[in-house]
Amino acid sequence: MSHVKQEKWSSGTAFLLAAIGSAVGLGNIYRFPYVVGENGGGAFVLVYLAVVIVFGIPLVMTELTIGRRRQVPPITAYVQLSEGKKSQSFWRLAGFSSVLTPLGILGFYFVIAGWTLNYVYSILTGQLNNLVEGQTQQVFNDMMESPATLIFWMTLSVLITGFIISRGIKAGLEKAVNILMPMLFMILVLLVGYSAFNGGMAETFEFMFTPDFEKINMKTLLEATGQAFFSLSLGSATMLVYGSYLPKEVSIPKMACGVAFADTFVALISGFAIFPIIFTNGLPLDSGPNLVFVTLPVIFDQMPFGQVFGILFFLLLAFAAITSTISLYEPAVSNLEERGIFSRKKASMVVGGGLWCLAGLSALSMNVLSDWHPVGFNETVAGMNIMDLLEYLSANGMMLVNGLLAAIFLGWIVNRSESLEELGLGDGKLYKFWRFIIKYVVPPVAGYLIIDFIGYGFI
Ligand code: PFF
Repeated sequence: MSHVKQEKWSSGTAFLLAAIGSAVGLGNIYRFPYVVGENGGGAFVLVYLAVVIVFGIPLVMTELTIGRRRQVPPITAYVQLSEGKKSQSFWRLAGFSSVLTPLGILGFYFVIAGWTLNYVYSILTGQLNNLVEGQTQQVFNDMMESPATLIFWMTLSVLITGFIISRGIKAGLEKAVNILMPMLFMILVLLVGYSAFNGGMAETFEFMFTPDFEKINMKTLLEATGQAFFSLSLGSATMLVYGSYLPKEVSIPKMACGVAFADTFVALISGFAIFPIIFTNGLPLDSGPNLVFVTLPVIFDQMPFGQVFGILFFLLLAFAAITSTISLYEPAVSNLEERGIFSRKKASMVVGGGLWCLAGLSALSMNVLSDWHPVGFNETVAGMNIMDLLEYLSANGMMLVNGLLAAIFLGWIVNRSESLEELGLGDGKLYKFWRFIIKYVVPPVAGYLIIDFIGYGFI
């Protein structure tokens, strides 16, 4: 039962900015370029674009629809939309799982958000000056080995996010994205301009847009789908809650396309900010997660205005991270508030306290707790620390499960008339195409990816 009247976004544009803020994050600027680098460039980009169009947009529409239909938080949305069905208690669980997943994500995301803040500070104070290759690795390792540093910056990112959340939708979330998103876009444009000026654009174009078809295989598809889920903030209640605050007159399909377009654009543009520098300086393309924190800083002070570039770059990452952490924090708070258990302020504090502990464990898992490994799971999991495990379970596993459940729910369980009315597409080709995708395409593909995730993949 709803005890508190939900706040709404003040307009479709306010929603769009917040949803783009959620989608554009570490996934675009930190993860996308290194995954492209590791997976051979153009082949991956092509598959990624196809996945965004075929699964991404329809799934964003699906989650926004479930959220907005009754304009209630995720668990209640699942319960109300399955009213009278035998499987209702199962769907309550599905709602619950979708609210828990972003908390798991935040368990590692807050730590990386902390790294970005720490790097802004380190460059500002000249700690990354005059470094050559091995030394940037050393700086990164020193950070990882220092519980105090990691916890300090992680705590700062929890506090900033918690503060924004506690102020509510209009005074908190909307205000934050209104300030951060324009700055984010401005910095991004500056950085690409700067990169272009320093050369390496032609190589970047070629690398990102000339697909080597031989490199496309099942692994590319798996990676691309995982990346698209993460990047579009799917399977984690974010789109459900952001949808529940969306005024009824705004078109969901248009919003979904807007979010997917902007998100993909920023991911590609991030490639154009980073790869030219990698090419002109002959740095490795496939340095994986090290790309941004170890490889890139090597050249910051060798390039003209490199230090300014460095500060702007990590600020960009930090802003992108914060507009995503708020969207991951909001679902749990929205649920607690709706139930009348806590006021928004108290709910923000309680959720923040829990998240701080979880992210604290993640931070410690790289130093004090590095000898702890999960036991009793399969081989992939056995070597992981707490932070890797959280990422693996929430971002690789649970997001897919929740996305699959959302598609089955709206495609097979909820009466057709509900989505028909909510999407406002009429009963024409577009609506039928969307319904076909979420009924017949998403379930087998996501289902297979989950089977693969638990170690029984056969392709
Ligand atoms: N989309 C964000 C990124 O690309 O960094 C991460 C994210 C935010 C995932 C919100 C899931 C979510 F619900």
